[in-house]
Formats: sequence, C-alpha cells, structure tokens
Amino acid sequence: MGTPNKILAFAASNSSTSINKMLVTHAANVLKEEMIATADITILDLNDYEMPIYSTDRENSGGIPEQAQAFYKAIGDADALLISYAEYNGSYSSAYKNIFDWCSRINSEVFQGKPMVIMSSSPGPYGASNVLKTASDSAAYFAADIRGSLSVGNFYDTFDSDKGQLSDANLAAELRAQLAKLV
Ligand SMILES: Cc1cc2nc3c(=O)[nH]c(=O)nc-3n(C[C@H](O)[C@H](O)[C@H](O)COP(=O)(O)O)c2cc1C
Repeated sequence: MGTPNKILAFAASNSSTSINKMLVTHAANVLKEEMIATADITILDLNDYEMPIYSTDRENSGGIPEQAQAFYKAIGDADALLISYAEYNGSYSSAYKNIFDWCSRINSEVFQGKPMVIMSSSPGPYGASNVLKTASDSAAYFAADIRGSLSVGNFYDTFDSDKGQLSDANLAAELRAQLAKLV
C-alpha cells in the first residue's frame, strides 16, 4: 500500500456532542498535520445517513436506500478510514448499526479492504473497549484491514475539548503510533 491520501473519518455516533467525533476529528488533524500533508480529509456525520430501521421486509419492498448507497460509496472512494466507535450497552450505537446493516446488504465486505485505524472513547475508565473489540474481532468478515486501534477512557480527563486534542501524553503518543501504521 502506498501512503493513503483520501481519508474518510467518522464517529459511529449520531450525537451532536459526540466525544468520538471529537476524537476522530483530532486523529484526522494529527494525520494531516504531522504525517500526510497532502491528505484530503472528509469527516462524515451519521445524521446525514439516517434511514428507516433495517428490515428484510423494507429491503424486499423498497430496495436499499440511497443513504446506504452513498455511505458505501464514500468508503469505496476513500484510501483509508478513521473510525471512532461510541459504545451503547456494550455494543454499537443504533445509528451506526442501522447504516452498517443496510450497507452489508449491498456487500458484506462493507469496508472494501480499506486500511483503517479504529478508535473508541467513553467517559468511563474502559474507553468503550467492548465495542472496539467487537469491531476488531469481526474485521475479517467485513473486509476491514485494521492497522491500528486505540481506546480512550476517561474522556473528559484525557481530552481537552477546548483545544480539540488529547491532553494525556501517553494517549497522545499512542494515537500517533497507531496512525503511523497507515503511512
Ligand atoms: C444508551 C446508552 C448506553 C451506554 N452504554 C455504555 C456502555 O456500554 N459502555 C460505555 O463505556 N459507555 C456507555 N454509555 C456512555 C457513552 O460512552 C457516552 O454517552 C459517550 O459520550 C457516547 O459516545 P458519543 O459521545 O461519541 O456519542 C452509554 C450511553 C448511552 C446513552
């Protein structure tokens, strides 16, 4: 793989105050400012891909919504992905899972072999590590080429929301180490 230039980043959350969106935006900034100066970064908002809850009946009667087609195409158009997962009750947010389920009906290889760094964050000490593990463990089924991962716990103590960057030095170094695996 050459150095990726077109980077797609998103938080797997539909919250307007998403901590995972803050984290993934920071990661994208670090990648561009410190590693790939020419990087063309797109940050998606899951709210732009809201659809009816997936059901086989809906798929059979109406096909796959254009939002799912657009999301799948956005992944296909990217050279690499940055994703930060919100954890709801130990797993994916409903907003993300719905998009993912619809996209998997286009092609089970939702991630289309793209190299990616996956992250997760929560206000608690475990840093949404359950959902990160779920994403990591299932990667092969969905053609996700996971190069690195990072869980950020105690978000409000480890991330400076005003500056939009990690304030914890160890996590800041680890983020850079994981991102470097894409380059
Ligand atoms: C319905 C619900 C379930 C949650 N379950 C978990 C959980 O299982 N593990 C966890 O670490 N945090 C959990 N949280 C707290 C989230 O980590 C926290 O709301 C976080 O801000 C979500 O990420 P986001 O801001 O990027 O949406 C839950 C929050 C909600 C609203």
